[in-house]
Amino acid sequence: MQSQQPIIILKENVERNYGREAQRSNIMAAKAIAGAVRSTLGPRGMDKMLVGSTGDIVITNDGATILSEIGVQHPGAKMVVEVARTQDDEVGDGTTTAVVLVGALMEQAEQMLEQGIHPTVIAQGYLMGMDKALEIVDSLSLKVDPSDRKTLMKIADTAITGKSIEQVKDKLDGIIVDAVMIVAEKANGKLTVDEDDVMIKKQKGESIDDAELIRGVVIDKVKVSEQMPKKVQKAKVALISMPLEITKTQVKAKIKITTAEQVNAFGDQERETLRKLADAIVASGANVLLCQKGISDIAQFYLAKAGVLAIEDVPEKDMKYAARALNANIITKPESLTAKDLGTADLVEEDTEGNVTRISGCKNPKTTTILLRGTSDFLLEELERAVVDGTRVVMDAMEDGTYVVGGGAVETELLMKIRDYAQTVGGRVQIALEGYAAAFESIPLALAENSGFNPIDKIVELKNAHAKGKKNAGLNVYEGKVTDMLAEGVIEPLRSKRQSIQSASETSVMLIRVDDMMITQQAKKGSAAPGM
Ligand SMILES: Nc1ncnc2c1ncn2[C@@H]1O[C@H](COP(=O)(O)OP(=O)(O)O)[C@@H](O)[C@H]1O
Ligand SMILES: [Mg+2]
Repeated sequence: MQSQQPIIILKENVERNYGREAQRSNIMAAKAIAGAVRSTLGPRGMDKMLVGSTGDIVITNDGATILSEIGVQHPGAKMVVEVARTQDDEVGDGTTTAVVLVGALMEQAEQMLEQGIHPTVIAQGYLMGMDKALEIVDSLSLKVDPSDRKTLMKIADTAITGKSIEQVKDKLDGIIVDAVMIVAEKANGKLTVDEDDVMIKKQKGESIDDAELIRGVVIDKVKVSEQMPKKVQKAKVALISMPLEITKTQVKAKIKITTAEQVNAFGDQERETLRKLADAIVASGANVLLCQKGISDIAQFYLAKAGVLAIEDVPEKDMKYAARALNANIITKPESLTAKDLGTADLVEEDTEGNVTRISGCKNPKTTTILLRGTSDFLLEELERAVVDGTRVVMDAMEDGTYVVGGGAVETELLMKIRDYAQTVGGRVQIALEGYAAAFESIPLALAENSGFNPIDKIVELKNAHAKGKKNAGLNVYEGKVTDMLAEGVIEPLRSKRQSIQSASETSVMLIRVDDMMITQQAKKGSAAPGM
């Protein structure tokens, strides 16, 4: 029985894009996203200035940061942004590379679609290409020993160049590698590094050259009361997450309580309760207190009397890190605090400027803090991003024990080897494979372009060098010469290349296979130009 009425399966507010239209839309979106970050690739890439909806400004050259800051509406574009996010999560570097690669793969696909090659064939070729590419990068990879400080420093250096912090690069490379070496743990013959064991702290006002590595914990705050000691040796540290205050109505008096008479001015009951809280902390044997919330004046008075160095409003992140470093438990109420919960450290001391408190000689030696200094927030933030990237790549290389040669060397080798492989395949898939291979050109092309050299000339030079068997030939972005990048120390973790190849390929395949897009209008609100 057939109805005269058309069957409506989609809601009214669903916009639909079919076939070529859907493909074109995704290709445009991927190209637009790649176009947005392409000019930042490499040490000589440009910076972007981003202004958030609240007017906050970020100046960066970091692909992942750019893409997380700009809001993207188009579903295809969102998938490309996801590639960057995954790369950042898994590797901590190589985000721009991954996104530029997706853009190039989609551009190649666009040309093939125009030649009438079916999306299924393109997808098949891309997946074959990906397997081959992974096989090739593995075979090109070199080994690094976890104790090889010199090589690891070069890996850190490659990741942090170009982040407008040139003058402190060498120092930071050393700090990064030493920090990771301190926290690395070997179990069952396998080396692992936990990112959470390295704390990065920023301090404004001083010279960028004063960055330092501190074995222990740094809290950006100092003791709550003048009456407390500035320094405690053989510290027993209590970590309390609840406020040491009674009620909300308890006014945080402006006057600091320093005498017993002033204490008496408070109600008896209130005073008693707070004294008990302070007593409980003292009774546990603690001589240092880190409190995640406020400490009332009366509690401060009693703590100071007992010689306890107390810090209030310690951020949760620092509390957790301190618990880890000191082998302590974070307790909610002082009443339940016992000696077992306390952390131990050789020394807790306020720095000479009175800005931060350092806890050193911690129970757990596998934790460390990188203290960054700089004159502006912009600089400190870019410095932090650089150190985060550097730390991550050193971790990757140490855990896997492998690295590859950068500066476009690996990509040139990939593009030539995959092209050779395509010749052996034949048929239409061969064309798809050739397109896949060609996409790798995008990396050395962008490196050359961003450094102000003629990209076409440089590609030709690179290909010639590789054809002569110079596997490590890459672009010296400062002199514009094609040189041995291994000799120049431009090296990156294998994990980074593998991840960018894999996620760029898989996402491209997914996007190419889409031939029908159904977008519910609400989700599309606020303009959905393909791109941003
Ligand atoms: N000194 C250098 N000379 C040439 N290429 C370099 C140098 N340092 C880094 N590169 C290359 O720059 C690219 C990484 O650029 P980057 O802006 O950090 O982007 P990503 O977000 O992909 O890490 C890699 O291809 C890397 O090999
Ligand atoms: Mg990088």
